[in-house]
Amino acid sequence: MLDKKEKELVDLARKASENAYAVYSGYKVGAALQTAAGKIYTGCNVENASYSLTNCAERTAIFKAVSEGEKEFESLAVYVQSDTLFPPCGACRQVIAEFSDDMTIIYANQNKVVKSNIKKLLPESFKLS
Ligand code: THU
Repeated sequence: MLDKKEKELVDLARKASENAYAVYSGYKVGAALQTAAGKIYTGCNVENASYSLTNCAERTAIFKAVSEGEKEFESLAVYVQSDTLFPPCGACRQVIAEFSDDMTIIYANQNKVVKSNIKKLLPESFKLS
């Protein structure tokens, strides 16, 4: 069950999915990242003709936040405009785990919302410190 703040975060992720550049896969994804300081950074997936250069919505939001000086995050919502609901990919899980051991991760589409956390999605993550 999501609280009001989490519902708002999902709504911002849904809005961010409108900006997705998903001309190859057709999966328009948005993300909204809540920082400990109370700010929210959004992102979308940005695809490329050289497919592997694609940046997922989650990493776009995280990279935006980190490049603005933020490093402490509370929760991340991801929204996909599809009937297929998916949690963050492995690359995004690794990037999330770099900054938090216990971030709340909410993933949603128009039919379903799942509340999880990074510990569950990436147990025993790789770290160098
Ligand atoms: N995608 C995301 O934005 N986040 C994920 O966690 C998984 C996949 C994007 C990448 C690509 O543009 C499209 O969804 C299909 O893989």
